[in-house]
Formats: sequence, structure tokens, C-alpha cells
Amino acid sequence: MSELPHIRVQDLSYRYDPEATPALLNVNLDIPRGQFVAVLGHNGSGKSTLAKLLNGLFQPTSGSVLVSGMDTNDDDKIWDIRRTAGMVFQNPDNQLVATQVYDDVAFGLENIGVPTEEMPSRIEEALKLTGMSELKDRAPHLLSGGQKQRVAIAGILAMQPEALILDEATAMLDPQGRKEVLQTVLRLNREHGITVVWITHFMEEAAAAERVLVMDHGAVVMDGAPKEIFSQVDKLRSLKLDVPPMTGLAHLMIKKGIKIDPHVLTVDDLVREVKRLCPSCLKD
Ligand SMILES: Nc1ncnc2c1ncn2[C@@H]1O[C@H](COP(=O)(O)OP(=O)(O)O)[C@@H](O)[C@H]1O
Ligand SMILES: [Mg+2]
Repeated sequence: MSELPHIRVQDLSYRYDPEATPALLNVNLDIPRGQFVAVLGHNGSGKSTLAKLLNGLFQPTSGSVLVSGMDTNDDDKIWDIRRTAGMVFQNPDNQLVATQVYDDVAFGLENIGVPTEEMPSRIEEALKLTGMSELKDRAPHLLSGGQKQRVAIAGILAMQPEALILDEATAMLDPQGRKEVLQTVLRLNREHGITVVWITHFMEEAAAAERVLVMDHGAVVMDGAPKEIFSQVDKLRSLKLDVPPMTGLAHLMIKKGIKIDPHVLTVDDLVREVKRLCPSCLKD
């Protein structure tokens, strides 16, 4: 028997109302367990709608979504699915409810009826995984944006999810906060095998993913490794998307006739190319 992917989306369509154009139309998508997938797309392309369908907050208008083999069309499974595929939203302030970090993480566990004696170890572990242990007695509203998002993530981790779906979780953060949250989630993915769906409009974040999906008008129009996706600069721009800064720079240089690799994503990639093209340009 072949094993199901962690998340399987089949012929998925979604309409907010029967008259409206569908927000998603015939999306097919398999996400293997443990993959880190970034989702890009300009405003209104369907990213948030997809996110909410992936964890059963919405049910399909037609088609299906299977999470760990559970169908979101099955009302009896919805609660398990939401716990299995935890969702992190854009605004950290809307996700925190308690007056202390520790209690905030506990809140979700109380809601799902975890036995009291099991709670402390789960909470401590979640705080540790997000690097928030030392701040567990703090008031959430006094934390930085990045710290608040890490508390929100801790609250979900305490429920022992198998997947995290983050819908522009870094959009309201400063560069330091964005980095903290991305590093935290990358670590959860690499060290704990948690499947990640990372929706973002920051190209450099998508460059850190294993796979990038690009959405447009409710469909997945590009799907591949970051280097494959970002080397298609003109196509991305036609979808109203930018490319990572170093990729943009490399493509400007290509247009000027410099024979640089179009797959450059990072500063290190660019430095490697400069070294290759001009060995004498760099100090040893
Ligand atoms: N609550 C809603 N009611 C009606 N239409 C909506 C609602 N939310 C989103 N839409 C529409 O669905 C489409 C996809 O939106 P969304 O999934 O929010 O895109 P994205 O997250 O990529 O910006 C857009 O056309 C948007 O206007
Ligand atoms: Mg959105």
C-alpha cells in the first residue's frame, strides 16, 4: 500500500458565496510529511483561503482536503484536524489571551481537555522549543512582536501538532522579529519533522523553504524548489511578485552581459559567483 502524503488536496474549490468567482478553483496538491513549503501570491490570490481549508477552519465547496488521512469534509474529524494542523495568523495580539506567557500556552490545552497533570511538561517543552522559557512569567502584551508570535507558536506546539500553517505570521514584525520566528519554525521543521506551510510575501523567507508554491487567481501556478522558481524573474513579475534582492541584482547583471548564474538567491550565492567570475576580485 502506498503511503498518503501528509496533506493531500484534491480538486479543491471554494466560494465565499454562490454568486462570487471562486476564491480557489480545482487545486491539487500533495505535501509530504516533514516538508517546508512556502506559499507566495499577490493579494487576493487565495493563500489565506487555502490555509483555512488546510486545517478545517473552512470546508471545501467541492473537492477534498486530507490531513494525516483525515478528511476535512468529515465533521467528526474537524477537531482532530485543527489540533493536528495548527494555524498561526498575522496579528500576534489577536492570538494571545492570558496575562502571563505560561497561562497563554496553557489556555489551548485546557480547551482541548488535556489532563491537568500532563499540562506542565507539555507547556515547558513548548516554551523551550520556541526559546520562550525564560519569559514564561511575563505579560504577553509587554513582549516584542517576534516574541508574541513565538508564544502563539508555543500555544500550538503544546497541542503536539504534526503540521504548522502560518499565514503571513511575520507580516507585522520588524526584521529582528521576522528572523526569530522564521528560525524558530525552521528548527521545528528540521529537528522535529513538523510539516510547515509558510505563507509569506517576503521573498527571502520563501528562499529558505524546501519548496515554493505560487498562487494566482485561486490556482497554484508555479511549484518547485526556490532556485527553480526564483530564476523565472519575468514570470514572477508578471504575477505581480518580486524576487529576492540578490536574485534581482543577479538578473540586472545578466542583462548587462555578465555571465552570472541566474539561480542566485542569497548574498553567499552572489559572492560565490563573483569569486568564480573574477578570482582576483576577492581578498583571500
Ligand atoms: N470573507 C470573505 N468574503 C468574501 N470574499 C472573500 C473573503 N475573504 C477573501 N475573499 C476573496 O477570496 C479571494 C482570495 O482571498 P484570500 O484567500 O484572502 O487571498 P490572499 O490571502 O492570497 O490575499 C479574493 O478574491 C478575496 O476577495
Ligand atoms: Mg491572506
